Amino acid sequence: MFKQSILLIIALALLQIVQASPVPPFDAPNHKKNIIYMVPDGFGPSGLTLARDYKKYNLNNGEDVRLNLEPFILGNIRTYSTSNLITDSAAAGTAYATGHKSYNGAISVDDEGQPLGTLMEALKLQGYKTGLVVKSTLTDATPAVWASHVDTRQKQAEIALQMVGETLPAQFGQVVDYMSGGGKCYWVPQGQEDSCREDDVDVISIAKEKGFNYFETKEEFDNYLENGLTLPALSFWAEEDVPYSIDRDPSKTPTLAEQAQLALNTLANATKDSEQGFFVMIEGSLIDHCGHDNDAACHPREVLEFDETFKVVKEFIDQSETDSLVIVSADHETGGMALGSMEGDYDPTVLFNKTHSSLYFVEEVTKYNETNSNEADITKFVQDWVVNELSVTDAKDEEIKNVVDAVLNDEDILLAIGPITSDRAGIAFTTDGHSAVDILSFFYTNSPYIHRAAFRQERGSGLLGNHENIDTNRFLQSITGADLDAITEQLRS
Ligand SMILES: *[C@@H]1O[C@H](CO)[C@@H](O)[C@H](O)[C@H]1NC(C)=O
Ligand SMILES: *[C@@H]1O[C@H](CO)[C@@H](O)[C@H](O)[C@H]1NC(C)=O
Ligand SMILES: *[C@@H]1O[C@H](CO)[C@@H](O)[C@H](O)[C@H]1NC(C)=O
Ligand SMILES: [Zn+2]
Repeated sequence: MFKQSILLIIALALLQIVQASPVPPFDAPNHKKNIIYMVPDGFGPSGLTLARDYKKYNLNNGEDVRLNLEPFILGNIRTYSTSNLITDSAAAGTAYATGHKSYNGAISVDDEGQPLGTLMEALKLQGYKTGLVVKSTLTDATPAVWASHVDTRQKQAEIALQMVGETLPAQFGQVVDYMSGGGKCYWVPQGQEDSCREDDVDVISIAKEKGFNYFETKEEFDNYLENGLTLPALSFWAEEDVPYSIDRDPSKTPTLAEQAQLALNTLANATKDSEQGFFVMIEGSLIDHCGHDNDAACHPREVLEFDETFKVVKEFIDQSETDSLVIVSADHETGGMALGSMEGDYDPTVLFNKTHSSLYFVEEVTKYNETNSNEADITKFVQDWVVNELSVTDAKDEEIKNVVDAVLNDEDILLAIGPITSDRAGIAFTTDGHSAVDILSFFYTNSPYIHRAAFRQERGSGLLGNHENIDTNRFLQSITGADLDAITEQLRS
């Protein structure tokens, strides 16, 4: 009995020593690191279940599957902004980029509209190389928050200029070394076909003058993937958003995973002899858009593409000799997507045969409507589409009429066509906007010391458990030594 007590006391004492020992000096901020920040925009807990079930029954013939992300869940995250319990991507992105919550629409500015220093700016000044890889416009909120400061996310033309270092403090230079995504229209002057600018500024030419390698064809992409690419580099895959995974033409558009692979190769090669590694933000931008569209078949395909991208990132980390980490956390959930509805039992197999997104249908029917805008023709077009492209053979007259009315009266066609599939899959959407539910966070690293740091629960140092969205930024400041207050001061001086 006495012996057992002694042993117990010794064991407890040892435990205390282990718990009290500080994180070893290997974690020193100056130690070379690669940081990969992945944002599956609009991805909530129900999106994870749907993507898994979709893969299980569609690709794996019902055999159990685990998504690449699933073993690495670290916790969940509260997303509200200063202006609303339901955040948008701008306010949530600002929290991730700067460590401060702000109002919906804010691009790395505070509630008074004053600029807030970002982690990407701080790391760039510390000698890191930097990148942004997305499927929406490169100037959209989630990428914009890392390298620009404007009072509203609408100012995409101004954001493009800041992204090539035109209007930020001179000592910042150009903050982003690698950019790949959509939104070319914000980079070409007005008057040119498909321009979204209202001035004569040619941002692509400015980038080329600054030495950017510019490309936009799949041939160039494949060549760079095989033979290497040097920084800085800029590539566009669409005038606006890159096509959804469900609509993608593989001969024209790389997947997000392929885009990420080229970014990682290029950034790693560019930093192989450097003191510092790289920071890259990779966004699964369009999960959010499938949610806004209430398109239940678009959604899991977009999530699975993101999950493949995570696999590429994890393999990169496993092969890297540099301490590398990936944080995955959405900015918010979109659509209030529920699995199981008043309309029927949850059955993801209904989604398999939908050949295109609802958005693609809108584009096609709008084109057809230009020359055939009468009830009989549009009804026939919709009926054929529902049978051939949705594989729904029992559509009710009322369901078809809803779509036809939306087309003829120019109402929301997306919200009329989507339910024909989602009702039969028992999938419901509570909104065509965002929802307030906590989102999931995931974490992986090849470094035991960074692993130990992330698996602490304290707010501001660790990430385990439930956290505020600003905590991921504070964690990254703590392991990199980035001083964002100093950057904020420089921006405001
Ligand atoms: C690595 O960078 C060098 C220049 O620093 C370049 O010549 C080479 O093509 C790059 N290789 C790859 C695989 O990216
Ligand atoms: C999908 O399409 C195939 C071939 O057209 C058909 O055999 C199958 O029943 C369809 N599945 C669903 C769930 O509609
Ligand atoms: C279809 O055509 C009608 C008549 O020209 C027009 O009023 C309506 O806005 C069109 N719908 C769409 C979606 O363009
Ligand atoms: Zn959104």
